Amino acid sequence: MNTMIYPTTNFNAIEQLVVTRGEGVYVYDNTGKRYLEGMAGLWCTALGYGNEEVIACATEQMRTLTFAHMFGGKTHPAAMELADRLAAMVPVEDAHVFFGSSGSDANDTQIKLIRYWAEATGQPQRHKIIARDKGYHGVTVASASLTGLPANHTHFQLPFDALGILRTGSPHYYREALPGETEDEFAQRRARELEELILAEGPDTIAAFIAEPVNGAGGVIVPPENYFKYIQQITDKYGVMLWSDEVICGFGRLGKDFGATALGMRPQMMSMAKALSSAYIPVSAAVIPGSMYEALVEPVGKVGVFGHGYTYSGHPVGCAVASKVLEIYERERLFDHADNVGGYLQQELAGLADHALVGEVRGMGLIGAIELVANKKDKTVFANNSVAAYCQSQCEDQGLILRALGGNTMAICPPLIITAEQVDELVSKLGVALDRTLDYVAREGLGR
Ligand SMILES: Cc1ncc(COP(=O)(O)O)c(C=O)c1O
Repeated sequence: MNTMIYPTTNFNAIEQLVVTRGEGVYVYDNTGKRYLEGMAGLWCTALGYGNEEVIACATEQMRTLTFAHMFGGKTHPAAMELADRLAAMVPVEDAHVFFGSSGSDANDTQIKLIRYWAEATGQPQRHKIIARDKGYHGVTVASASLTGLPANHTHFQLPFDALGILRTGSPHYYREALPGETEDEFAQRRARELEELILAEGPDTIAAFIAEPVNGAGGVIVPPENYFKYIQQITDKYGVMLWSDEVICGFGRLGKDFGATALGMRPQMMSMAKALSSAYIPVSAAVIPGSMYEALVEPVGKVGVFGHGYTYSGHPVGCAVASKVLEIYERERLFDHADNVGGYLQQELAGLADHALVGEVRGMGLIGAIELVANKKDKTVFANNSVAAYCQSQCEDQGLILRALGGNTMAICPPLIITAEQVDELVSKLGVALDRTLDYVAREGLGR
């Protein structure tokens, strides 16, 4: 009997794989078959599975204090320690941290903080947020409205217009550059378009520009080298806050502490989740600058309470686990490891670029993607996503989990602890899956 409504699933194709346990970078299904988890779950299990130190920490925290909330002036040591640790890590001035349990709720929180701040600073009209096409920022009503992917809007009556979310182009050079345009010209055009949008809407109505340093779910899009330099010139010029969605890129994914650091962004706001706790338990954080926090103090005092908070904001087990995970990242120098082994992953993936099915290989650090095309020369796309879905099934057949994203793009995002030998395993299995997919395309007459 099926009683579950599955998330982000085709209801006609449920229960394809039953995962029952995990160890290191591998997971096992209910028949005992082993898979290299090449997606770190959903871009999140940075430390891999079964880390005994994290498990011991969670167990100890559960014994000591299973739950404590932080409403009405109460607090507890685990959350205070994590907030201080994070605030000291992030490149945000006088950072203040609000805890939740998912990337979506962190982004929701940010939208509400922006609106509160706009009122608090006497500019209630300044609540609009610019988000990008192909961006992924979550699925709650507000965060899905930030997201720029059709499947997250269609039939949901989203985006929600009243939120004032504006859309600008994605930084995907391979797909969106004009004929003859260089990467740098493309990046400058994107910045110009952002400026035009800001001017058309009125600069004093725009609060923030949200961006993933490297887009994840929208196709693992690595922006051109100077993209954020040009973008930040515009956001700085109009006093628009740069909001870095670090839910995937944070904590080593791009080989640095944060995606913003790796791409030279100077964000005022940051959202994080996933690798913050290495997905051992759900924890998220919304980070804002001290100047924004200070502006809230007086109006909050007048209302009597900051009317936003989740039961699980700062859950003690989540916070203890996250602090432990951050300690392990630092002690084991895992961001450097991700940088090194990530360089190797990119080099090996690049070796697949000549494959007849591969339009583009892209990536940075320990995240990558391979876009499958019907015709390499003119970048013709396949009619639907069945080709990447087939490729995913052929990976799984060999004991490798990768994810077929929209646009027939295979995403790769292994745990940070992956070794060079395991990268070899991943890339060689992906190569076999590509060959089998090419046969499938020929068999089904899908190519051109
Ligand atoms: C960049 C980014 N932001 C936000 C989210 C939403 O996080 P969650 O699924 O934890 O709500 C995701 C999830 O993949 C993400 O990749």
